[in-house]
Amino acid sequence: MSTTMKAAFYEQFGTPEEKPVRIGELPKPTAGEGEILIRVKAAGVNPVDAYTVRGMLKDAIPCRFPLIPGWDVAGVVEETGHAARRFKKGDEVYAYARRPEIQHGTFAEYISLPEAYVAKRPETLSWEEAGGIPLVALTAWQSLFDAGKLEAGQTVLIIGASGGVGSVAVQLAKNAGAKVIAVASEPNHGFLKELGADSCIDYTIDDVAGAVKDAAAGPLDLIYDCSRGDVLSKTHDLLKEGGHLISITNSKPERRDDVNFQYVFVEPNAPQLDQLAALADAGKLKIHVSKTYPLDQAADALRDIESLHTKGKIVIRI
Ligand SMILES: NC(=O)c1ccc[n+]([C@@H]2O[C@H](COP(=O)([O-])OP(=O)(O)OC[C@H]3O[C@@H](n4cnc5c(N)ncnc54)[C@H](OP(=O)(O)O)[C@@H]3O)[C@@H](O)[C@H]2O)c1
Repeated sequence: MSTTMKAAFYEQFGTPEEKPVRIGELPKPTAGEGEILIRVKAAGVNPVDAYTVRGMLKDAIPCRFPLIPGWDVAGVVEETGHAARRFKKGDEVYAYARRPEIQHGTFAEYISLPEAYVAKRPETLSWEEAGGIPLVALTAWQSLFDAGKLEAGQTVLIIGASGGVGSVAVQLAKNAGAKVIAVASEPNHGFLKELGADSCIDYTIDDVAGAVKDAAAGPLDLIYDCSRGDVLSKTHDLLKEGGHLISITNSKPERRDDVNFQYVFVEPNAPQLDQLAALADAGKLKIHVSKTYPLDQAADALRDIESLHTKGKIVIRI
């Protein structure tokens, strides 16, 4: 059996123009203590993967070269390590694979992970759809429910609603019984309505705050900012006193003192992945894969995700 695997990797940080990411052979990992070895079938691409290649996370999380990008995986269990007992060879699984040190990512034929990170994948979805779920769906879940305390009957404003995180957040908020006001460009409004948004607002119009106010017909309980634009600063006065403001893009936004603010940085959580798989298999969580790339074109996928205008997900098929 081969001791190497095909992987996308880089040995120094760089911009897309400097082409740091290349394809080659690296040692195939093995399943260590408490770990499982996964044959990767699909790996979601996220903006953070591109930021990591640029070196933008290096002061926050230790990075080690050669570094394989990618934190999302759906695949098949190939081997179980000593003391790993939750999964067996052949199980179809998915995971959010960020570890305390960044080196072994999912843009490769294999990854080994602590089994505590891993859950059974949704059975009814394609590999591409399953591989696009973990990072964005855990982010949306932890933001809306753990941090944002969203409840049925509340009104939530989701900014950046048609992208990876936002498109899942719209569905989770709607499933939870909330009224959902979604902000994205106009061409994506039909998509957002299909996902369950009650109202859609175009962030390019002159009076975004007025449009949100009319759609909400009352104060907002939660603002969830998944964008890097200026809609939050224009709308945060519409949040009720004691409401929740959650951002995944800015840890220090300008804000009022009378609201509960949290910056969320997504954490691995297998029990939440189990709940997300159940929602997907019940038809209550859909993943729109707008584009797939082969592993050989991982650098192109990373360039593509940096547009910050992805509809749903970009996924690498391996
Ligand atoms: N902290 C964390 O744990 C965490 C986790 C995941 C993601 N993130 C960050 O969150 C952001 C969103 O991630 P993602 O994967 O969902 O990205 P994405 O798939 O690229 O989606 C970006 C979304 O932002 C919208 N958008 C673009 N420009 C906008 C503007 N000026 N005003 C309002 N909305 C705008 C896009 O809508 P249109 O296409 O219609 O323009 C799209 O809906 C990224 O910056 C990412 O790095 C953080």
